[in-house]
Amino acid sequence: MENISQILERSEELFAGKRLLLVNPPADDLVSSIDADWQVWTWDWSVQRSLATQLDEERLCFSHLCPRFEGLDAAILVVPKALERAEYALAQIVPLLTPGCPIYLVGEKKGGISRAEKLLQPYGNGARKIDSARHCQLWTMQVADGAEPFELGSWQREVHIELADQSIDLVSLPGVFSHGRLDEGSQLLLEELAPLPPGKVLDFGCGAGVLTTALARRNPGSRFEMVDVDALALYCARQTLERNGVEAEIYPSDGLSDVHGRLAAVVSNPPFHTGIKHDTSIAERFFEQMTRNLLPGGEMRIVANGFLRYPALIEAHIGPCNVLRENNRFKVYSAVAPG
Ligand SMILES: C[S@@+](CC[C@H](N)C(=O)[O-])C[C@H]1O[C@@H](n2cnc3c(N)ncnc32)[C@H](O)[C@@H]1O
Repeated sequence: MENISQILERSEELFAGKRLLLVNPPADDLVSSIDADWQVWTWDWSVQRSLATQLDEERLCFSHLCPRFEGLDAAILVVPKALERAEYALAQIVPLLTPGCPIYLVGEKKGGISRAEKLLQPYGNGARKIDSARHCQLWTMQVADGAEPFELGSWQREVHIELADQSIDLVSLPGVFSHGRLDEGSQLLLEELAPLPPGKVLDFGCGAGVLTTALARRNPGSRFEMVDVDALALYCARQTLERNGVEAEIYPSDGLSDVHGRLAAVVSNPPFHTGIKHDTSIAERFFEQMTRNLLPGGEMRIVANGFLRYPALIEAHIGPCNVLRENNRFKVYSAVAPG
């Protein structure tokens, strides 16, 4: 079991038998190990897939919004790394609790839990740490009266982006990649105007949907599918398509878990570098999967930090790797499947 779940398990007496809202849990068996009336909200599709084997459908929700669960005795937020995402979640959770109900914040010390007191401050007084173990902390506070009802619109950011050939209105929410701006890597990828092979194109890790919006307009003979593991990204991608009058299929997937059929192309600003220069294991798995999913003559076009050693991996799994564009930080790679 994850450290976060272990620290919660140590305080089992606070939770057993209660009707609890659990938000952003890890993909483990915490909900089976503590006997409570669990209601779970996750925005992570890998967690959804894992907990679906342990919880009935009506107790588990994968969404950008927290369902309006009623009669809660308490709520537990596993604090996400992005501070803004934690604030966004709390703004939805607290109004669901009756004044006086406890809210618990749990997380890794190197993650967002160090900000527990600050996060809880708008919702009451007397936040206190009740446990610290396994590199994690558990905080609690009783919520005060007067939490404002949640308004999605006030968390949504809209940006107008000008590319050489078109303009795009991008919608984003807290914690969605490059919230409120166009990432420099994605911009470089979009500077490449060479057409994609016609057919089904996968936008892997679509985020707020900027790549498909631009590329679908440039490649009218292609059908775009967009996947992301994050429910907030999927919601934003839908909004972005709507704002820009672009059509594509959007669905959740953890890696290629839910992607079916062979692809004429895949485009991505992929998520798989952890910041550790030599950790290429996730990237390697992705390139390996691409070998099976690309049609003969299908193209993989990605942008990545120039320091990552992707070309050798791409060549080992797909085929000769060309650099289409580069600047001092990023490179746009293209490889075509043999056939
Ligand atoms: C670098 S961002 C790129 C976002 C967008 N394509 C852009 O260019 O702005 C990578 C995206 O991959 C998503 N992601 C991370 N892990 C994933 C996984 N296992 N499966 C699918 N998507 C994932 C993230 O949520 C994020 O939206």
